[in-house]
Formats: sequence, structure tokens, C-alpha cells
Amino acid sequence: MRDGAVHDFALAGEVVGDITDRLLGQRVLRPVLVSCVCVGSTELERKTLLDILQSAGAARAYLIYAPVASAIGVYGVAAGPEGRAVLDVGAGAADCAVISMNGIASRRAVPVAGNAMTRAIMEYLETSRDVFIGESEAERLKKELSSAIPREAELAFVSGGKKLNGEAVNFELTSTEVYRTLRGCFAEIGKLVVAVLDDTPPELVSDIRNNGILLTGGCAAIPGLDVYLSKTLGVPVTVPPEPALCAVNGIKKILPRLKELAQAGVLIGRD
Ligand SMILES: Nc1ncnc2c1ncn2[C@@H]1O[C@H](COP(=O)(O)OP(=O)(O)OP(=O)(O)O)[C@@H](O)[C@H]1O
Ligand SMILES: [Mg+2]
Repeated sequence: MRDGAVHDFALAGEVVGDITDRLLGQRVLRPVLVSCVCVGSTELERKTLLDILQSAGAARAYLIYAPVASAIGVYGVAAGPEGRAVLDVGAGAADCAVISMNGIASRRAVPVAGNAMTRAIMEYLETSRDVFIGESEAERLKKELSSAIPREAELAFVSGGKKLNGEAVNFELTSTEVYRTLRGCFAEIGKLVVAVLDDTPPELVSDIRNNGILLTGGCAAIPGLDVYLSKTLGVPVTVPPEPALCAVNGIKKILPRLKELAQAGVLIGRD
């Protein structure tokens, strides 16, 4: 899986098979597998993911949109009588959905999330310093230095990379440079939410103006992302505890009710 889509069918099947073997051992009964899926996925991408879960040995396989799983993880149910907006900013995509009792009222995604931010830092170092660094080092610098609003006190990190000719070099990177590099990504994520709210019926938008937007996924830990979005959108934005685990906590909660939720359309499965 890369950026929210399957890039290598055989390898993805092996990875899922390996995870289930490690979790379940050599059991006779085949497992039921549930995976999150991006709200921007195509029908073909969802079908491919279901095929992978089945090829990895699932007796039954289901998908759930990431913001729906996150809402269940935090609130116990996807939606109460009022409309709810969830923005999940993970690695491959930012996923936004408005959920109501009748299902998903509007949903959109952009391929701008943690991976795009890591790549932007690598590209910035290439153009500003002629320095090349690996993805894991760029990810580390991102986690140390990123913020969605200017930091009160500037931070700086010294790290190592390579010039084009292979020569090893040290360089310093500041939080202000990282903020300027990632600003465009945060603006794209803000635009995504505006587009979803534009697609949402007015009565649900007024619920969201009162109740705010739930911000989940690994990137919800970026300092100031909630403040930036709240200022840009004029809507309160809340980050729950352990935002990267909301979706998986949601899946844990629904495991006893899979058939019922598949019938209700909360889960995507195969008839
Ligand atoms: N403190 C942090 N600061 C900045 N980014 C962070 C931080 N913690 C996690 N991330 C980023 O969050 C991303 C992982 O988020 P998450 O676990 O929600 O993704 P995922 O569910 O695997 O991906 P996707 O939902 O796109 O399929 C990574 O890009 C990671 O670098
Ligand atoms: Mg995710």
C-alpha cells in the first residue's frame, strides 16, 4: 500500500497474511478481516483491497471509510441525531467526511498528508542546500520541527545528508523553514474541508458549526494544526487523545456487530 492505494497486489497480500499469521497463529478457523479505506478511493481500489484481504485467507472481508471508523473510535457510534464532521490526516491522504444518521452526507480526500509533507522536506533540502536525505530522516525532521502555525520559539536540528557527488555533509534545518515548506500542505487540507462543507446540506453544516470538527490520524499530532484549521474555517476543531489510534479503536468496537453494520451500509463488503 502506498498513498492510500494498492501498489503491489502480491506483496500486500503477503503482508496481510503475515500479520494475521502472527496474530492468530496456525488456527483452523479463517479470520474475518476489516480494513480502513480512504473516502477518495475508487470502486476498483476498494474491490482490489477486498481481494487482497480474501487472498490473505479471510473468511469474510469488510472495508470501512477511515473517518467513519475514527468517529466510532471516539464516540462509540458513527453519528447521533446531529451531523458530525471528521477529518483524518494520515500518511497517504487527508480524508474528510460529514456523517449523519442517514450515512455519509459528503466526503472527499486529497493525497496531501504525512507522506507529502515528508517529500516536501526532502525536496526543500535538495533545492535550498543541494542535499539529499533518506525518507526516514526526513520523517524524523518533520516530527521534530513541523508546526501548522509559526512556533513561538524557533527550533533547529543538525542532521546529515549527501551531495549529488556522494560527499557526506551536515546541515542545519530550522522550524521556520519547515513551517514555510509545509504551509501549502496545510492550506490544501483546509481547502478540502471547505469543499466537503460546501457539499453538505445546510442543516448539517449548522450542527458542525456548533459541534466542531474531529481531527484524527497521525498528522493530528502536528502542533497547531487544530488551531490553524479552526481559524481558517471558523469552526472549532478538536483533537482526541491518541489521534492515530482512533480508526483502529473504532474497528475494535464494531467487531461484534459486523453483519448488522454491513447491512446498515456502515461497512463495505461483498454480498
Ligand atoms: N508528531 C508528528 N508530527 C508530524 N507528523 C506525524 C507525527 N506523528 C505521526 N505523524 C505522521 O502521521 C502519518 C501516519 O498517520 P496514520 O497512522 O494516521 O497513517 P495511516 O493510517 O497509516 O495512513 P493512511 O490513513 O493515509 O492510509 C505519518 O506520515 C507520520 O509521519
Ligand atoms: Mg489511516
